[in-house]
Amino acid sequence: METIKVNIEHTQAHTAKDEINALLPEILTAKKHLLAGDAAGNDFLGWVDLPDTIDTDMLTRLKADVDRLSAKSRVLVVIGIGGSYLGARMVIEALQSEFASMVRGEKPHIVYAGHTLGEDYYSQLLALLDREDYSICVISKSGTTTEPAVAFRIVKAHLENKYGREEASKRIVAITDEHRGALHDIAVQENYPMYVIPDNVGGRFSVLTPVGLLPIAMAGYDIDRMLEGARTMRNLCINDDTLEGNPALMYAAIRNCLYRKGIKVEMLVSCQPNLRYLAEWWKQLYGESEGKEHKGLLPHSLSITTDLHSMGQYMQQGERLMMETMIRVRKPNATVTIPTDAKNLDGINYLTDKSLTQINDCASEGTIQAHVDGGVPVVEITVDKIDEYTLGQLIYFFEFACGVSGYTLGVNPFDQPGVEAYKRNMFHLLGKPGF
Ligand code: PA5
Repeated sequence: METIKVNIEHTQAHTAKDEINALLPEILTAKKHLLAGDAAGNDFLGWVDLPDTIDTDMLTRLKADVDRLSAKSRVLVVIGIGGSYLGARMVIEALQSEFASMVRGEKPHIVYAGHTLGEDYYSQLLALLDREDYSICVISKSGTTTEPAVAFRIVKAHLENKYGREEASKRIVAITDEHRGALHDIAVQENYPMYVIPDNVGGRFSVLTPVGLLPIAMAGYDIDRMLEGARTMRNLCINDDTLEGNPALMYAAIRNCLYRKGIKVEMLVSCQPNLRYLAEWWKQLYGESEGKEHKGLLPHSLSITTDLHSMGQYMQQGERLMMETMIRVRKPNATVTIPTDAKNLDGINYLTDKSLTQINDCASEGTIQAHVDGGVPVVEITVDKIDEYTLGQLIYFFEFACGVSGYTLGVNPFDQPGVEAYKRNMFHLLGKPGF
């Protein structure tokens, strides 16, 4: 299977190949710091080795819990916010049917909570949980984040009402810190099965820990294959010091090059609707890692061709602020072709027998050409297909590139001090003691 490729051909009007090559020493210095663990944020580098150091006993226990909960649940409520839910959601939404909520599958349907405080959302969720057998996977590294704590209190009360306290405690799994935090203490007291988020793995880099693995396995997907994909990509990222051979270094280089030329926004674009949560996960990864000291590309996303009929106008002729990073998928998982129509009243018989991938590829090519002509540099990231293996590759690729890119930008990519500001204000307004 081909690996991820990063093509910068369509950025040449903005930055010459020589300029990108000239950045290689800086990129390699950033990579050296990442691997040596001798720069800012070095206490959060556990993710670098995760694919190769995963605890196999933990994986065996996790799969046993997945089987036990799956046998008695039609629904799994995954409670978490930010890095404690986006990675799992990205993989599940990429792999499951777009119509999963309408189809009674063999595996539990995954629903989410703790990522919002919307009251209607919770009343609708509780109405669903009234009629479905369900379990809860509650995830919080700190164990004190307000949104998941509020959601857990609401859903746990519902679960205990529905099944009684004893059975409820067998339908809850907690993923949190090994020693600290309210969620840790609740899990210990109530005797919930517990999984640990390693101290040295930050939330947005935690998808290859139980944070991502448990919900993804519950949804029925092959986490071993995903880890295998991540392992292959780790091998490449760590061992190849060339821009041509190492896609993560090339991506880190082109982003920094274009940023230095005045580009302010990076649009992640895909013509696969099932990758929309890849974009959400990526936004958090890059936004929270690089958006510091008034620096960093603003991560944004578009789904094509859907958004070409809304944001397409701005992309073509609005302020020239942005680069575009287009994710292209070589092979579909299934083929749908255009049927012929004898009357041809819609005038599209010229498409007869073409597959949607052929048409979508032309849409992508057409978009790249139009945007390049309109002054937007376009980077192409190509993956073979959408499956567990390539998603594992993509996860590690984006994480590694993020670490290298953040160090090249000159920020600590592994903290998130800015996230605290709204919390202080909210706690003050809610009258939390001490605020
Ligand atoms: O990347 C991060 O660290 C954050 O997005 C956290 O994942 C998010 O704030 C949730 O934190 P916690 O897992 O402590 O509840």
